[in-house]
Amino acid sequence: MRFNGRMRAIQISSLEGPQAAELVEIDEPTAGDDTVLVDVHAAGVAFPDALQSRGLYQYKPDLPYSPGAEIAGVVRSAPAGAHVQPGDRVAGLTMLYGAMAEVVALQPEKLFKLPDSVSFEAGAGLLFNDLTVHFALRTRGRLSDGETVLVHGAAGGIGTSTLRLAPAFGAARTIAVVSSDAKAEVARAAGATDVIPADGFKDAVKELTGGRGVDIVLDPVGGDRFTDSLRSLAPGGRLLVVGFTGGEIPTVKVNRLLLNNVDAVGVGWGAWTMTHPGYLAEQWAELEPLLASGAVPAPQPEVYPLERAAEAISSLENRTARGKVVVAVR
Ligand SMILES: NC(=O)c1ccc[n+]([C@@H]2O[C@H](COP(=O)([O-])OP(=O)(O)OC[C@H]3O[C@@H](n4cnc5c(N)ncnc54)[C@H](OP(=O)(O)O)[C@@H]3O)[C@@H](O)[C@H]2O)c1
Repeated sequence: MRFNGRMRAIQISSLEGPQAAELVEIDEPTAGDDTVLVDVHAAGVAFPDALQSRGLYQYKPDLPYSPGAEIAGVVRSAPAGAHVQPGDRVAGLTMLYGAMAEVVALQPEKLFKLPDSVSFEAGAGLLFNDLTVHFALRTRGRLSDGETVLVHGAAGGIGTSTLRLAPAFGAARTIAVVSSDAKAEVARAAGATDVIPADGFKDAVKELTGGRGVDIVLDPVGGDRFTDSLRSLAPGGRLLVVGFTGGEIPTVKVNRLLLNNVDAVGVGWGAWTMTHPGYLAEQWAELEPLLASGAVPAPQPEVYPLERAAEAISSLENRTARGKVVVAVR
């Protein structure tokens, strides 16, 4: 039996990994004077959710907590004068936990009106990665028209986001690096111009680019691929350091940067948004029209029911996820 003011949510109460995520019933949040209440329809799953469930992420919420950094849903109530109103379809950032619940309370600046053409499932799977990739390619990577972008982990959340966005920001060619045939299909569906296996990717890049190399490598994987990524850059190229799903944090011999005139560039989107008020709104002002017009296709996530949230988070940890993963909340 459900009572008014109660909601279903996923909670993690011990740091034993994704399998600790269980469905519970808890109190709904209440709206503060300056917060918006959202009825959540779907929540995105990202790699930090898996790390957090083992206490391995830099940000560690108090236990118990609900995982998930992003949502899509419908505004239930909003403070007077807010840019969103009751009934609006929105996507939102809970950054970095709290999304897997039927109701969330968020500051208005963390909410963005969803174009009608974007479903709740797709909407829950776009902010975290698309805004990171926008920051990586535009602000940090200085992507110019006609350039070539290579992305590692191309069938993952950040990977498919890169493949969807890079052409709209001017890339003439996208090269997707993946570990299996099934993931190659996901990368092609997300728009990759070329798909190559992770093993031996440096030689494949050389062959594809006539020995020149690529202008940008966007790297959410790290580990032992790093040096070959630097070797795959054309003169003036940029290696964008986005994450370390491969586990190991690589080191770089800076003579490689000097000898080939290439950059290794850090991409810490969350930290940037905290030191640059208004940046999220600027990003959305650029991204929203591209999504609304279809110039950037919406994500096509793998959707799990809320009851299977543990499995959804596990799929990122055990490397079986294909594309962006989303949990349907209602
Ligand atoms: N810097 C920022 O601001 C920022 C923002 C958001 C996310 N991130 C980071 O970006 C990274 C990617 O996140 P995501 O949500 O896109 O993850 P994801 O959907 O799980 O994709 C990651 C990809 O990494 C590859 N991979 C290689 N070795 C792996 C391993 N040992 N375990 C798991 N995956 C492995 C996999 O591709 P293959 O199997 O094809 O190799 C997988 O598709 C994470 O480290 C996350 O923390 C950073």
